[in-house]
Amino acid sequence: MAAVTVVDHPLIQHKLTLMREKERSTANFRLLLREISLLLAYEVTRDLPVELVDIETPVAPMRAPKLSGKKLVFASILRAGNGLVDGMLDLVPSARVAHVGLYRDHETLQPVRYFFKAPADLTERLVIVVDPMLATGNSAVDAVAELKDAGARDVRFLCLLAAPEGVARFAEAHPDVAVFTAAIDERLNEQGYIVPGLGDAGDRLYGTK
Ligand code: URA
Repeated sequence: MAAVTVVDHPLIQHKLTLMREKERSTANFRLLLREISLLLAYEVTRDLPVELVDIETPVAPMRAPKLSGKKLVFASILRAGNGLVDGMLDLVPSARVAHVGLYRDHETLQPVRYFFKAPADLTERLVIVVDPMLATGNSAVDAVAELKDAGARDVRFLCLLAAPEGVARFAEAHPDVAVFTAAIDERLNEQGYIVPGLGDAGDRLYGTK
């Protein structure tokens, strides 16, 4: 089974608590998600390989570390994934972005595919799939399957909140994909919402209902 990392940094936990509050404004929710995405991206990229290169500072030559090896792709599960990707691109501006369009059928809770666009060289890249909520796990499982079908071999999954049911379902389907999350909540309710959760991440991010 793949590793699940709960990123329990105090700044992340504090910002997540603010995001959960139901009176939080759309603008504030969006800003907090962007801030948290930087901190989560820091953790999910912690083990990226570096190589020493020769440079010259204004004072002296030196050998200094630079990122080496695989290039990154951030794969956003539309639409709420975009709220995480925007901040992550601040941190890694050279990353490519894939978009996976899935919506959840509210009755079956199954994902329905409607869009897919990814860089052609997925096989050579580290693909970090992002969606704020890992609830039933159905969308995440399907998005990663689509990306693997398109060539992705080295994949990680990053979310803000997870339900135990979603973590288990995802690990069963993709045992090779490590999961990073800020918290694992209690459970799912009958409508497939995470409890206590924060509601519908897409609606809260974009002010829709
Ligand atoms: N998607 C959301 O946005 N929120 C949930 O609680 C579950 C799925």
